[in-house]
Amino acid sequence: MNYKIAVLPGDGIGPEVMGEGTQVLKQIAKIYGFGVELEEGIVGGASIDAHGKPLIDSVLKLAKGSDAVLLGAMGGPKWDGLDYSIRPERALLALRLELGLFANLRPVKLFSALASASTLKREVVEGTDLLVVRELTGGIYFGQPKGVTMLPDGTERGVNTEVYTTPEIERIAHVGFQAALRRRKKLTSVDKANVLEVTELWRKVVTRMHKDEGYAGVQLEHMLVDNCAMQLIRNPKQFDVMVTTNMFGDILSDEAAMLTGSIGMLPSASLGGKVGMYEPVHGTAPDIMGQDKANPLATILSVAMMLRHSFDQGAAADRVEKAVEVVLDEGYRTADIQEPGRKLVGCKEMGRLVREKIEDRG
Ligand SMILES: NC(=O)c1ccc[n+]([C@@H]2O[C@H](COP(=O)([O-])OP(=O)(O)OC[C@H]3O[C@@H](n4cnc5c(N)ncnc54)[C@H](O)[C@@H]3O)[C@@H](O)[C@H]2O)c1
Repeated sequence: MNYKIAVLPGDGIGPEVMGEGTQVLKQIAKIYGFGVELEEGIVGGASIDAHGKPLIDSVLKLAKGSDAVLLGAMGGPKWDGLDYSIRPERALLALRLELGLFANLRPVKLFSALASASTLKREVVEGTDLLVVRELTGGIYFGQPKGVTMLPDGTERGVNTEVYTTPEIERIAHVGFQAALRRRKKLTSVDKANVLEVTELWRKVVTRMHKDEGYAGVQLEHMLVDNCAMQLIRNPKQFDVMVTTNMFGDILSDEAAMLTGSIGMLPSASLGGKVGMYEPVHGTAPDIMGQDKANPLATILSVAMMLRHSFDQGAAADRVEKAVEVVLDEGYRTADIQEPGRKLVGCKEMGRLVREKIEDRG
């Protein structure tokens, strides 16, 4: 088997963390006997500098023609003054839309060696292992009508519209149910069905699918979004897979992310079409770029997600994740997760240590 991967490092620390991610990918391919063909493209601010726009056609074509996309991060102060239509982050939205990536998967797993990095008590967070499945291409961020209009009395009126159709709900709910079947078989569907008709429909569709589409083996619960925000802090271990709308997912996934204490640890996958896209949750961290201080583990764990979801290489993914756990258990830390008495390492050394542990487990 030979996989084509579009590698889009982006800006800031993107190229640094990507360097470690791709080395892990090449190493694991060798161990498990499959081929990887990596082709690099420039996106975001780097692309604006070179071509005047954040995503050029040839890079989009590269992404569309690949089996998977590995992305760093885009943006930075240098491009902050630009019009929204050509800002680096537009490349991200364009890629999601063009690749049909309607499902965003964000696992939130607390490595027990890092439990004290969380702002919550160890006994609350230790053992947290949940997955947020967020709808990514619909809902209030895209619904019409939207905009700000001037009223006759000189005041203004702003509108956004939350819209979901039955097929949009069904396809994201399938992703949630399927993920739950591969994990601990519990799905929490998060809505605001007591107030919003659109999520009353959401709840109705998810309930019907549970009954009629072969998901009886999954324990389904419905939770109102405000309660969910509380439950995440009160008892995060109650969650296995959570499926929700674009906006609720945007907010809850950031809240859930903070349970782990560091953004440098969190991977993500965006799925839906033929090509999956994998990226760390963090941004370009301009404050530490070029200093070998970035934590590459979110990118390395994104590579593990690619192995699992795009290449069906579950054993290879487990091996990468285990290697990360061992490195942390042995006390190695990048600056963002540093604690007294631990061994401080840079981005490159952290990557090398993970590769060493991957090799050791052979
Ligand atoms: N997906 C993306 O491409 C994406 C996501 C978020 C932000 N951004 C962009 O990134 C730029 C900076 O945004 P921000 O500062 O709000 O968020 P950020 O995630 O880049 O940084 C927030 C803080 O976390 C630290 N941090 C982030 N990733 C880290 C890592 N891997 N290792 C160690 N420390 C890390 C940074 O040093 C900083 O102190 C902005 O231009 C923003 O638009 C891009």
